[in-house]
Amino acid sequence: MSKKYNDKNADKLNDPARRQWQDPDLLSGVFGALDGKTVVELGVGTGYFAVALAKKYKAAKVVGVDISFEMIRKFKENAEAQGITNVFCVKSEENDTLLRDNFADVVYLINVYHELSDQRLFLEEARRILKKDGVILIIDWKAEESPQGPPLCERVSRVSIEDELKKLKFREVSSSFELYPYHYAIKAYK
Ligand SMILES: C[S@@+](CC[C@H](N)C(=O)[O-])C[C@H]1O[C@@H](n2cnc3c(N)ncnc32)[C@H](O)[C@@H]1O
Repeated sequence: MSKKYNDKNADKLNDPARRQWQDPDLLSGVFGALDGKTVVELGVGTGYFAVALAKKYKAAKVVGVDISFEMIRKFKENAEAQGITNVFCVKSEENDTLLRDNFADVVYLINVYHELSDQRLFLEEARRILKKDGVILIIDWKAEESPQGPPLCERVSRVSIEDELKKLKFREVSSSFELYPYHYAIKAYK
């Protein structure tokens, strides 16, 4: 049974110690240059990743989407505190980002997939907002014990996500394990 991250713990997402096992600056290496692109983070939380990307790629448009008002508020606050102006935020519904079809060059979600109430519907929504040939990246907790993260029973196997992506006709589904020690990263194209 999936369980949502408690937004009362929002500040934990910005804990500087997190950089040791999930450094947001490493993310840009996965996508390559993003200037001129529209990048959407689904389940943006406080913007730990989105703000780092927006800071690095000042000519990218970085859109953070979240179902929690409190998280959206913290995301805005975080971006403003760092003087970032190329971020935008959307308070979404569970499987509705409120964004238009073919909106994004890149869609990514990190530490979110295991919280979704209907993973298939959510991936369909991610696909809808992606442009043709756009890239999706899903990073989530490996289904094995780790010092941080949700209980094992809430984690989702990498293979099941790959299968869902293939069923939805995403192309070139591939996984890697080197980015972060406790996570897998799955990349695919529309
Ligand atoms: C564990 S936090 C991760 C936040 C951020 N990605 C990070 O790693 O710092 C999960 C976030 O996903 C959001 N979330 C959960 N289900 C969602 C959904 N269906 N649509 C949008 N956001 C969702 C939660 O509100 C929360 O902010």
